[in-house]
Amino acid sequence: NYKKPTLIDFSRTGDRSTGYISIAEKEKLPFVPKRIYWTYFTPEDVVRGFHSHHNLEQVLIAMAGKITLNIETNDGELFEFILDSPDKGVYIPKQCWRTMKYSHNAVQMCIASMEYDESDYIRDYSLFKK
Ligand code: TYD
Repeated sequence: NYKKPTLIDFSRTGDRSTGYISIAEKEKLPFVPKRIYWTYFTPEDVVRGFHSHHNLEQVLIAMAGKITLNIETNDGELFEFILDSPDKGVYIPKQCWRTMKYSHNAVQMCIASMEYDESDYIRDYSLFKK
């Protein structure tokens, strides 16, 4: 009964003359957030991620720039998402292997369901596949 990775459309209000606002409130989120962090200035030739989580669920949003996100679920299904708009997010369920590539200007926000816990990480791909 694992959930699948899905695109979340946060939508936006506003217009070009005032700018926009997007809101992550509980109707849009698959979990109650416990932690928010962001990554930025990742060189374009660097791939991040290469891990899964036992229990952590996340939503990734490209607040600026473009993120290419590849996900392998725990039943081997493959997904690719291009995040290039701050009104979109991707829900990453637990037990998904993920890698991310970034444009030079990308700022990635992660909304997370749990506090940081290194023991929740699976950083060995062969252990993930078991
Ligand atoms: P990691 O989750 O591996 O980053 P990414 O998936 O983007 O490559 O985290 C990178 C490092 O930062 C790792 O050594 C753990 C540390 N870290 C924390 O200490 N606290 C946190 O909340 C996060 C997300 C990472």
